[in-house]
Amino acid sequence: MKSTLPFRRTAESFSAAAKTLPQEYFISPDVFAIEQEQIFSRQWILVGHQSQVATPGDYILAEIAGESVIIVRDKGGEIRGFYNVCRHRGSRLCQEKAGHVSAIQCPYHAWTYSLDGKLIGAPDMDAGFDKTDYSLAAVSVQSWEGFIFVNLTEAAMPLAKWFATLGSKFSKWNLSALLPAKRIDYDINANWKLIFQNYSECYHCSGVHPELTKLSPSDSAKNDLYEGPFLGGFMKIEKGRSLTKSGNACALPIGDRDYNRVFYFSIFPNMLLSLHPDYAMVHQLWPKSPSRTLVSCDWLFNPDAFGRSDFNPDDAVEFWDMVNRQDWHVCELSQQGISLRAYQPGPYSARESIPAAWDEYYLSVMKV
Ligand code: FES
Ligand SMILES: [Fe+2]
Repeated sequence: MKSTLPFRRTAESFSAAAKTLPQEYFISPDVFAIEQEQIFSRQWILVGHQSQVATPGDYILAEIAGESVIIVRDKGGEIRGFYNVCRHRGSRLCQEKAGHVSAIQCPYHAWTYSLDGKLIGAPDMDAGFDKTDYSLAAVSVQSWEGFIFVNLTEAAMPLAKWFATLGSKFSKWNLSALLPAKRIDYDINANWKLIFQNYSECYHCSGVHPELTKLSPSDSAKNDLYEGPFLGGFMKIEKGRSLTKSGNACALPIGDRDYNRVFYFSIFPNMLLSLHPDYAMVHQLWPKSPSRTLVSCDWLFNPDAFGRSDFNPDDAVEFWDMVNRQDWHVCELSQQGISLRAYQPGPYSARESIPAAWDEYYLSVMKV
């Protein structure tokens, strides 16, 4: 797959006769278990942005394929990952979703680990006990464009290699420098794949998102990534407008100051990356069951925008919170209908070429 293909309208990359996935992919606990094993236990999974662990001792937790992982910045500035499991009797170590610690101390018998995972305190153990035998179990953590990814496999493909086909495509947005202004967590009664499929088309926009459609014509999508694990392209924004409640830019620009486009990319398997002229929005998807998905949505801005009188992040947050909820509603309606016996795979429209491509890649991974 070449990184920079020409932009094509959605219909031009459509595989005719593509249909939606069979019912079992949305309701079967067996399929869900295979996904957790084949996808979430093996691929690079987005867990956050480096600004969330900005200083040594900052940590966040992630639950990946049922495993709790601590992502922490150590004293040398490196971001590390450890299973959230004490090497004494296995207690969970960190309990808050995010926090700051000078060392990781077990709440049970107070074994203490340094931020690079070494056991540095184990009260009253026998004389022959060697602390160097009981470091925390590490997991692979690497960053791409400032975003932190975790891979649970022992010999993970380097993240840079995974993203190599994209080259420097994203560097103009300077994503690693952005700072978050807001996170909203959503609990959605729909299969995680429905959320990807919904994100990847605007066939639904004129009916579901009247406010969005006023600012961004629903048939203006053009894509330059239309096969493989990374999919997407841009839609037009009406000249001089932005995707905000007011319709005006709400912060200093990020990226290349292309005011007439919003870029939407899905990064397999759990990241949605939406790049507006004046902010980035990032969704993390966390499948919890065949019919339930947790989504964290972060809004990130140019660091120079903060503190200025023209900085109004709520304008963007409130707009997309509204659009997000409109999307979750139709995803939940889809889940409800797909769960019934009358459901049969239906034909994708030519305007749904990206969901069809997403399904194709997903099935290729499930077959491995
Ligand atoms: S289980 Fe952690 S110190 Fe005992
Ligand atoms: Fe939508």
